[in-house]
Amino acid sequence: MKTTGNTVFISGGSAGIGLAIAKKLNASGNKVIINGRSEERLQRALKELDGAVAIQGDLSIKAERIRIAEELTEKYPEVNIIINNAGAAFFK
Ligand SMILES: NC(=O)c1ccc[n+]([C@@H]2O[C@H](COP(=O)([O-])OP(=O)(O)OC[C@H]3O[C@@H](n4cnc5c(N)ncnc54)[C@H](OP(=O)(O)O)[C@@H]3O)[C@@H](O)[C@H]2O)c1
Repeated sequence: MKTTGNTVFISGGSAGIGLAIAKKLNASGNKVIINGRSEERLQRALKELDGAVAIQGDLSIKAERIRIAEELTEKYPEVNIIINNAGAAFFK
């Protein structure tokens, strides 16, 4: 697998582990597309990334998943890596 020149979609890329992955991939010459629910959080994260873009949307909602997938494939058909990072953990 090549580690540079990819176009990578990272769900939950606006914070935490997803943003850390986005920064690493961005710094090593990959185009990064981040996703998250909060537009404000996405815009803050984009300031830390070079040439990255965002697709806002909630992946827990089916209609949103479809919209996000359509936007991704229409605008960025060159996407060749998807990192399914968004999620939440619940501890008892
Ligand atoms: N941190 C840990 O120790 C740990 C351990 C094991 C596994 N994990 C898993 O690793 C992943 C990332 O964890 P993290 O600690 O980096 O979490 P985090 O800091 O809370 O970040 C979560 C990211 O996902 C986005 N997000 C959350 N729900 C979303 C949804 N429904 N649709 C789209 N985006 C959503 C958040 O942005 P918005 O809030 O704006 O949507 C944010 O960008 C999660 O799947 C978590 O379960 C984490």
